[in-house]
Amino acid sequence: MDFRDAWAGFFLFCSFWLVTFCEQDGFLSLSCGGRTSFRDTSNISWVPDTSYITTGKTTTITYSDDSSALNISARFFLNSRRRKCYRIPVNNSTTLVLVRATFLYKNYDGLGKPPKFSASIGTAIAATINLAESDPWSEEFLWTVNKDTLSFCLNAIPKGGSPVISSLEIRPLPQGAYTNGMADFPNKLLRKSYRIDCGHSNGSIRYPLDPFDRIWDADRSFTPFHVATGFKIQLSFKQSSLEEKPPPAILQTGRVLARRNTLTYSLPLDALGDYYIILYFAGILPVFPSFDVLINGELVKSNYTINSSETSALYLTQKGIGSLNITLKSISFCPQINAFEVYKMVDVPSDASSTTVSALQVIQQSTGLDLGWQDDPCLPSPWEKIECEGSLITSLDLSDINLRSISPTFGDLLDLKTLDLHNTLLTGEIQNLDGLQHLEKLNLSFNQLTSIGADLQNLINLQILDLQNNNLMGVVPDSLGELEDLHLLNLENNKLQGPLPQSLNKETLEIRTSGNLCLTFSTTSCDDASFSPPIEAPQVTVVPQKKHNVHNHLAIILGIVGGATLAFILMCISVLIYKTKQQYEASHTSRAEMHMRNWGAAKVFSYKEIKVATRNFKEVIGRGSFGSVYLGKLPDGKLVAVKVRFDKSQLGADSFINEVNLLSKIRHQNLVSLEGFCHERKHQILVYEYLPGGSLADHLYGTNWLDTNLFMSIINLLYHPIMSSNNAINMRVLFFLV
Ligand SMILES: *[C@@H]1O[C@H](CO)[C@@H](O)[C@H](O)[C@H]1NC(C)=O
Ligand SMILES: *[C@@H]1O[C@H](CO)[C@@H](O)[C@H](O)[C@H]1NC(C)=O
Ligand SMILES: *[C@@H]1O[C@H](CO)[C@@H](O)[C@H](O)[C@H]1NC(C)=O
Ligand SMILES: *[C@@H]1O[C@H](CO)[C@@H](O)[C@H](O)[C@H]1NC(C)=O
Ligand SMILES: *[C@@H]1O[C@H](CO)[C@@H](O)[C@H](O)[C@H]1NC(C)=O
Ligand SMILES: *[C@@H]1O[C@H](CO)[C@@H](O)[C@H](O)[C@H]1NC(C)=O
Ligand SMILES: *[C@@H]1O[C@H](CO)[C@@H](O)[C@H](O)[C@H]1NC(C)=O
Ligand SMILES: *[C@@H]1O[C@H](CO)[C@@H](O)[C@H](O)[C@H]1NC(C)=O
Ligand SMILES: *[C@@H]1O[C@H](CO)[C@@H](O)[C@H](O)[C@H]1NC(C)=O
Repeated sequence: MDFRDAWAGFFLFCSFWLVTFCEQDGFLSLSCGGRTSFRDTSNISWVPDTSYITTGKTTTITYSDDSSALNISARFFLNSRRRKCYRIPVNNSTTLVLVRATFLYKNYDGLGKPPKFSASIGTAIAATINLAESDPWSEEFLWTVNKDTLSFCLNAIPKGGSPVISSLEIRPLPQGAYTNGMADFPNKLLRKSYRIDCGHSNGSIRYPLDPFDRIWDADRSFTPFHVATGFKIQLSFKQSSLEEKPPPAILQTGRVLARRNTLTYSLPLDALGDYYIILYFAGILPVFPSFDVLINGELVKSNYTINSSETSALYLTQKGIGSLNITLKSISFCPQINAFEVYKMVDVPSDASSTTVSALQVIQQSTGLDLGWQDDPCLPSPWEKIECEGSLITSLDLSDINLRSISPTFGDLLDLKTLDLHNTLLTGEIQNLDGLQHLEKLNLSFNQLTSIGADLQNLINLQILDLQNNNLMGVVPDSLGELEDLHLLNLENNKLQGPLPQSLNKETLEIRTSGNLCLTFSTTSCDDASFSPPIEAPQVTVVPQKKHNVHNHLAIILGIVGGATLAFILMCISVLIYKTKQQYEASHTSRAEMHMRNWGAAKVFSYKEIKVATRNFKEVIGRGSFGSVYLGKLPDGKLVAVKVRFDKSQLGADSFINEVNLLSKIRHQNLVSLEGFCHERKHQILVYEYLPGGSLADHLYGTNWLDTNLFMSIINLLYHPIMSSNNAINMRVLFFLV
């Protein structure tokens, strides 16, 4: 057939693809640091990236291509340990996306130091970008969608300079593509090494010829022996058989070996690793070539036959290779190949446990700070204040943050080996730590803790316990001696009294006791009053006053006047601060209440009303670690149980609201229902319906307890995805219910 037919066929194909895919379904093209939307020469629309990232500075990079001067926008991130992430919502109907990023330096900052940094997708470090080697730099990844958000992050490398990015493109790929032959390699991300349109020598091909906007590079590194363009193009390619849907424009060209026996592509790879290779064949010639396929000299397919007018593909995986030779060895007619793709398989490490992640999120929330804790805590690089081993969080350092109490949420951080909570304003008893069986080092120094509590004896792996500079009172419990690995116990500057238990009197354990009332192993020495006085912490450094001329009366007068003025100003400021704080708290509380009024039948009580209802908290009907429960009577005569939280067990405002929200959703005949709550400064009070004659447990396990609906509704509430972000609170509800 002649050339005209061929082109007619070509256009038929193209118009088919164009009609079905020109809408750019699901394409997202971000111009990083860009300010305006625009359409490029392929009619793809680009948008600024501001909706998907909140950090970084923007710039415009001017450089000249071979032909023209270009202005390219870019976003850069001045050195910082935190990862810098684009968070892009992914359509739940797509299963695989292509992620393409381009990086450009071109000395935009005038420093002449091209940066080196890494790019990660989710938990996987996907690539290391070194702009000193190539500028611009482009990366393509195929990511199997396993979350509703794609986190594409740039991670600085020490001394690597500031990460910079100029574009990010997301393209959905056909369902089921790039999975053939990958069964032995679960949880992999594919990083493109090569995507070659064999036999095509003139520029690369992408959208709209490839409706999925893959970029197919020209067969440039080789001088083709015979380029098969313009051969008769069969209109009846059986496209459907290939999930990757290589476009006809790619398949209609091929490299055909006419006079030799073997056709070889020698491809350098930039790192030793496991690779995924796809070879595409199309019967564009009216013959049936047969050949053997060898990878790095090893036969992987013998007597492979391309059938006329059919498309086919070979899917191959190679482990631990550092370069790649693809060889086609002729059996009959000429070996031929139409396209191929080579990807490095990048490991996607597993996420940190969701319980741990949500516990950390609750803790972050309770600090009221933005610690930048997003996505996975450990990978690709650990969050600030956290250290990991693999996907396990083994160290947490929240020192110098205003925590006030160790909330039960800490009990979910099961893998912790090191916990540093020094100077976090902790008060009361040491609590909620008894589940942390792996804990080796615990630093609770410089707080206002008053009681050692019973939790510590369960921390069987504890090696270092630092309790210095608290207000610990009473005696040191004997049970600490059972901690066999403990080798440092610092009790300095507390109000502890002796004698020390003999169980602690062992060679392997160093105990520091100075600055207590009387703390030794001897029972007698305490009678003699010569122990060192307690040292208050934190210690105040006194700056010695400078000598001044006492004869200078004017200076003294000025000093007095100035001092008085200063005192007055300070007073005004502190009154102002107090007022503002009050206003803030009042508005914060009422906002929270307004928010709560919207959800349920729960009523908002004032603290006054609660006092009246309980006759000033007269009758206690229950006690727990959270506080006490009092009997009360509402103005309408209804009996209620009023649960008052101890200060130290109080939740952050948001957590409390969550709890009220959760409780107000549980309504059932066999269950106490929430009547209302009181949330005023310092008070977190829940008001329940009172069921006389028996505990809640009786009602749950009583005669008519076999109500699966109730059970299921509780389970649903507790494990509903919305709630799972807050499972510490869920657990508490569970304990209260049962
Ligand atoms: C570009 O695409 C838009 C909509 O997707 C279409 O309306 C417009 O005609 C296209 N322009 C060109 C030059 O193809
Ligand atoms: C690039 O930006 C410079 C300065 O803003 C401007 O003068 C120039 O025309 C721009 N070039 C292009 C190709 O847009
Ligand atoms: C998700 O896919 C549907 C159907 O393809 C489309 O209508 C919708 O706009 C997509 N949503 C996003 C956020 O891309
Ligand atoms: C995608 O989300 C919609 C609504 O959010 C839901 O109806 C649909 O079932 C989801 N599809 C898949 C494949 O998860
Ligand atoms: C290569 O492409 C350019 C423009 O796209 C065209 O002018 C030229 O003729 C092409 N060369 C070949 C050999 O096809
Ligand atoms: C690939 O082929 C080249 C040239 O034929 C040869 O030097 C090289 O050793 C081969 N590499 C492998 C991994 O087989
Ligand atoms: C290769 O396969 C074809 C058909 O699939 C067959 O006719 C031919 O005999 C085979 N050749 C060899 C050498 O096995
Ligand atoms: C070509 O056709 C033969 C016979 O139908 C079949 O056995 C063979 O698998 C086909 N070759 C390819 C590469 O699909
Ligand atoms: C605990 O923290 C304090 C305050 O930073 C520090 O002085 C002390 O050395 C720490 N204890 C241990 C055992 O590291």
